[in-house]
Amino acid sequence: MKRILTTVCILSLALLGCNGSVNESDLSFKTDSDWKFHGNTSTEQRFSGLKQINRSNVSQLGLDWYYEFDTSRGQESTPLVIDGIIYTTTSWSKVYALDGKTGRLIWKFDPEVPGKAAANACCDVVNRGLAFSEGRLFLGTFDGRLISLDARTGDLIWSTLTVDQSKPYSITGAPRVAKGKVYIGNGGADLGVRGYVSAYDVITGDRVWRFYTVPGDPVDGPDGEASDDVLESLASETWYGEEYLKYGGGGTVWDSIVYDEELDQLYVGVGNGSPLNHVYRSEGKGDNLFLSSIIALNPDTGSYIWHYQEVPGETWDYTATQQITLTDLMLDNVNHKVILHAPKNGFFYVIDRVTGKLLSAEKFAPVNWASHIDLDTGRPQETPGARYVEDPFMSGTGGAGVHNWQPMSYSPLTGLVYIPIQVLPFLYVREKPSAFAQGALNLGYELFKGPLPESPEGIAELESILTGSLLAWDPLAQNPVWSIDLPRPYNGGTMTSAGQLVFQGTATGDFNAYDAETGDLLKSIQTGLPILAPPITYGIDGVQYVALMLGNGGAVPLSIPVFQGPSQYPNGRLMVFRLGGSGEMPSDDFTPKPLQVIAQTWPEEVVSAGSDLYGYNCAGCHGEATLSSGVLPDLKRSAVTTNSETWNAVVIDGALEDRGMVGFSGELSEKQSEAIRAYVGSEASRIRLRDSTLED
Ligand code: HEC
Repeated sequence: MKRILTTVCILSLALLGCNGSVNESDLSFKTDSDWKFHGNTSTEQRFSGLKQINRSNVSQLGLDWYYEFDTSRGQESTPLVIDGIIYTTTSWSKVYALDGKTGRLIWKFDPEVPGKAAANACCDVVNRGLAFSEGRLFLGTFDGRLISLDARTGDLIWSTLTVDQSKPYSITGAPRVAKGKVYIGNGGADLGVRGYVSAYDVITGDRVWRFYTVPGDPVDGPDGEASDDVLESLASETWYGEEYLKYGGGGTVWDSIVYDEELDQLYVGVGNGSPLNHVYRSEGKGDNLFLSSIIALNPDTGSYIWHYQEVPGETWDYTATQQITLTDLMLDNVNHKVILHAPKNGFFYVIDRVTGKLLSAEKFAPVNWASHIDLDTGRPQETPGARYVEDPFMSGTGGAGVHNWQPMSYSPLTGLVYIPIQVLPFLYVREKPSAFAQGALNLGYELFKGPLPESPEGIAELESILTGSLLAWDPLAQNPVWSIDLPRPYNGGTMTSAGQLVFQGTATGDFNAYDAETGDLLKSIQTGLPILAPPITYGIDGVQYVALMLGNGGAVPLSIPVFQGPSQYPNGRLMVFRLGGSGEMPSDDFTPKPLQVIAQTWPEEVVSAGSDLYGYNCAGCHGEATLSSGVLPDLKRSAVTTNSETWNAVVIDGALEDRGMVGFSGELSEKQSEAIRAYVGSEASRIRLRDSTLED
């Protein structure tokens, strides 16, 4: 049935009746009470028509059951619910099928991603979820495979390699399914790859088409793929020099892929370039299509339909990969089929999805790289100096973005979008990448080098700057309606429902429910674990449940912890809540392990060299300045640090490679490895001394 949705009221009529009421019998409609797509429906609004849990009773929400996984790495998955069974994924691309009512494990599937693949993780070995179609599940594995499983048994149906594994590709995003095809992209642009999206046949697993988002080496001729024509006619001339060819150019499609049922188009969000700095990638010239763009493709052939580039000549890691949400909006009395987009760069875009033309764009967060977006050209008016070509530029946000992959949600009832926001300012300082190394961070700007403030005043000041919020944004008026301050940056995604609620988990482990209209906090449950993932909701036998993955990790908590965490977090969990739920919360001991005492001192220049080596090789996983947020071991508190031999067995020989601690024999000499140990050991002593002084 084709519905013409002109206003919010008609849309809500289609879903719920115009007064927004859903009778309880809606829970018996399996289709309405499942969560079948990554974003609930193919429009990816993350809105549910269920309203048994609503403003008047959400205060009675309680834990019903939880399931504990076998990894403490980040949990970013949106579970699917099909016929009462929850299908979810964890870090290391593992799949679990659980009874949605009881939490009983039905089956699990481990694709056995090799530990050494973790070296290709810019942002943890996470996975954001599955796709489902005709009794089959589809999974992208961290090491680049696309896998089809029998949803009933978890048996493997087919598996196909989607990447060249000699290059630092990874898959963390959820596949999407439409028209008998599975669509999947990949990540790795920070480490040096060429981005693309591909379509595979649901039944056979055969590849149907591939679209490269950036030009390849002209010496090799056309790729023989769906992107050939448009790369030749539009994209090539927007790239300069040859440097980018060494790095692959980037442009990975690492998260958002959406199929538009009404217009029969596929939208993909494209990431940053490789190397990241425009100066080194493309001589500082050209738009570099299709970096930081949304591209509309023909879902059957992969051929190009239109694109809109949000950041021409991208140079700040402002990707356009963030969630793409579809709806209709009345603008100037005309109904527009639109894309709602709130990418890292801090502008909220409303794009006509018929033509790709920008309809409106306004800042939804305090960013200063551009003053506004010109609606005629669709281009940003950049702030002079923002490109940090000569002088450093202090930006309102760095590559973490004011809004990253954590999904937003859109309620057709309130007409508002609920966006998880973080404030993480960043100083861009140009730095020539050292000789190109595939697999190393190829940024072209300096990473944060510390030191982090340590005095209570310094930490308090930092805490007051680095914050997060939940923002309710009106996409029609392009202005904020309400906003809730959160104590930490990098909180969970959101979900909204016909119960007029917005749900969100936070970095400090609170699972919150707000009034979708006013932002009033109606319920808050402390779960014990930091939350990144978005909640979902479903109904079984007349009961509405809310489910959520918990566990710390991902880009920011791994590398920019800023705040000391426990020595190590426990394993991730799936928690399921319902009205009157009275399950017992797990309790965890978060006491940090003691700092190591090493009866050894090192010359200052060794420690200093170790500090630089640590920053480049280790900080991305073990935390800036040895400050660990608790996802991976705090090396100052690890017994391994006390013993040179064990240290080298881990750091050089890769003794813990199976667990994702890759050996650095190719990158570091034993002397360098020892210098890092010297730095870590000295930090342990220094901080022990500092803390004992503070206590006195
Ligand atoms: C790609 C992410 C990653 C990078 C980069 C990384 N590590 Fe690790 N490291 C890990 C993981 C994961 C573990 C935990 C393995 C486990 O669970 O046993 C670990 C564990 C360790 C341990 C053992 C700690 C313990 O108590 O068991 C040491 C020592 C260590 N890393 C040192 C380093 C050093 C030094 C560097 C930089 C040269 C480095 N790591 C870079 C991921 C990383």
